[in-house]
Amino acid sequence: MVVPLTPALADKVARTEALLAEAAALGDVALASSLSAEDMVLTALIAKAALPISVFAIDTGRLHEETVALIPAAREKLGVEIEVFHPIARDVATYVRENGANAFYESLELRKACCHIRKVEPLERALKGKRGWITGQRRDQAVTRTELAEREHDAARGIEKFNPLADWSWEDVLAYAAAFDVPINPLHARGYISIGCDPCTRAILPGEDPRAGRWWWENSDSKECGLHLSPLPTRSRAPA
Ligand code: ADX
Ligand code: SF4
Repeated sequence: MVVPLTPALADKVARTEALLAEAAALGDVALASSLSAEDMVLTALIAKAALPISVFAIDTGRLHEETVALIPAAREKLGVEIEVFHPIARDVATYVRENGANAFYESLELRKACCHIRKVEPLERALKGKRGWITGQRRDQAVTRTELAEREHDAARGIEKFNPLADWSWEDVLAYAAAFDVPINPLHARGYISIGCDPCTRAILPGEDPRAGRWWWENSDSKECGLHLSPLPTRSRAPA
C-alpha cells in the first residue's frame, strides 16, 4: 500500500521531478548511482516519469554483496537496467602488487590512489560524451557538501551536473522509499547510512555524524573519494 507523503516531502519530490526533467531535456544525461537509498529513489523517479536518463554504477570490486544485489533488484522492481562500469583490472593488480590489497588504511595518499583507480577513472569513462550527469548528493550528508547547488556547471568536464536531492534529509529519502516500495540496501537498517566500499564503510552509532562510517580513520574534511572534486584530481602516484 502506498503511504501518503507529507505535504513538505511532496513539494520536494515535485522539485526533484522538475530538475530531472530539466536534466533529461539536455539530451544524453546519466544518473551516477552508488546504489545508495538516494540513488535508488532517483532511479525510481526516473522510471516513474519514463525520462530518457540512463543509470550507471561503478562496481569498484570492493562493494558489499548487499549493494551489488541492488542491480538486479532495480531491474526486477523498477524496470531499470543499470549499466555497470569496472576499474581497469591491470591498474588494480598493479596497486595491489605494489601496495597491498588494503593499503588505503596506511595513508591518505594511498587511499586516494585506490579511489582514483576504482572509482574516479571509471567515472570519467562513464561520463565520456555525456551532456550532463546526476548525483544523489545531499547538503546535510557532509561538511564538504553544505553549499551544494541543485544544478551546477561541472567545469572540469565541461558538462552540467544536477544534484536533485540537495535539500532532502535522510528521513525524506527513507520515507519516499517506504511509500513507493523502492528497493534499498538492507545494510541501512543495520546502522549503515552512507555506504561506499565494504572495507571503508562501517555502521554508525545513534547520534553519530552520517559520514562517520566512511573512511572513519580520516578527518571529516578529507572524506571525499574524488568523484565530486573539481578540477579533476590528478592521479597520485602510490609509493611502491
Ligand atoms: S563519495 O564521494 O563519498 O564516494 P557518496 O558515496 O556520498 O560519494 O555518493 C555521492 C554520489 O556520488 C552518489 O549519489 C552517486 O551519484 C555518486 N557515486 C558515488 N559512488 C558511486 C559509484 N560507485 N558508482 C556511481 N556513482 C557513484
Ligand atoms: Fe578503495 Fe576504499 Fe576508495 Fe573503495 S572507498 S576505492 S576500497 S579506498
